[in-house]
Amino acid sequence: PVPQDLAGRHALVTAGPTHEPIDPVRYIANRSSGRQGYAIAAALSARGAGVTLVSGPVSLPAPPGVALVPVETASDMLAACEAALPADIAVLAAAVGDWRVTHPGTAKLKKRPGQPAAPLSLTVNPDILASLSAPGPRRPALVIGFAAETEDLLANAADKRRRKGCDWIVANDVSLPGDGSPGVMGGDRNQVHLVTADGTEAWPSLDKREVADRLAARIAAHLAPHSLIR
Ligand code: C5P
Repeated sequence: PVPQDLAGRHALVTAGPTHEPIDPVRYIANRSSGRQGYAIAAALSARGAGVTLVSGPVSLPAPPGVALVPVETASDMLAACEAALPADIAVLAAAVGDWRVTHPGTAKLKKRPGQPAAPLSLTVNPDILASLSAPGPRRPALVIGFAAETEDLLANAADKRRRKGCDWIVANDVSLPGDGSPGVMGGDRNQVHLVTADGTEAWPSLDKREVADRLAARIAAHLAPHSLIR
């Protein structure tokens, strides 16, 4: 039986890609399947947490007992996260698009003959992890981000942890093959490092569900001495 050591806690989880509209028929997206984030939401819920899962467009069912908030864009995801606060725990596993189209077309954009460049200008999206990690009364006690890197994994992850102000980073090398899949993105397995203020732990290659269970157990152990929000 799973221990109910997160009973009374509220966890906010983000998952999946974002879709940034170009015009009514096109968007900018990425290859995130949402599987790792959904597994984390399920694992936290199984330990008794109330879970709000803010998810970009994916083809996964909401885990039982989890409150799903579907969103499309990074801006919508940030607004949904803020609306879900207060939370004891935030696990931001979404692959948030870095850029959005500055002025999405209200009608389908046309190719103009002889025009070599696309008529698009991009704007940087808000950083949800940095925003939720900022000090203040509504900051969750434990904020966890993800780092998908293809080079200098641990140095980049440690740097990201400090820069964004989150507590832990789950770092994975997306250049590794995910056991039969072209890469960790979209695969079933994940090989991660947990980066905290105390240093770095290498976890073995695990099923995404096992990564989620292990992370949920670590979260519960970390929060045990913290009092509940509100
Ligand atoms: O900066 P980078 O995208 O590599 O950081 C990854 C981490 O930051 C992930 O936890 C992701 O969910 C989060 N993130 C975010 N908002 C963004 C970009 C990334 O929450 N705009």
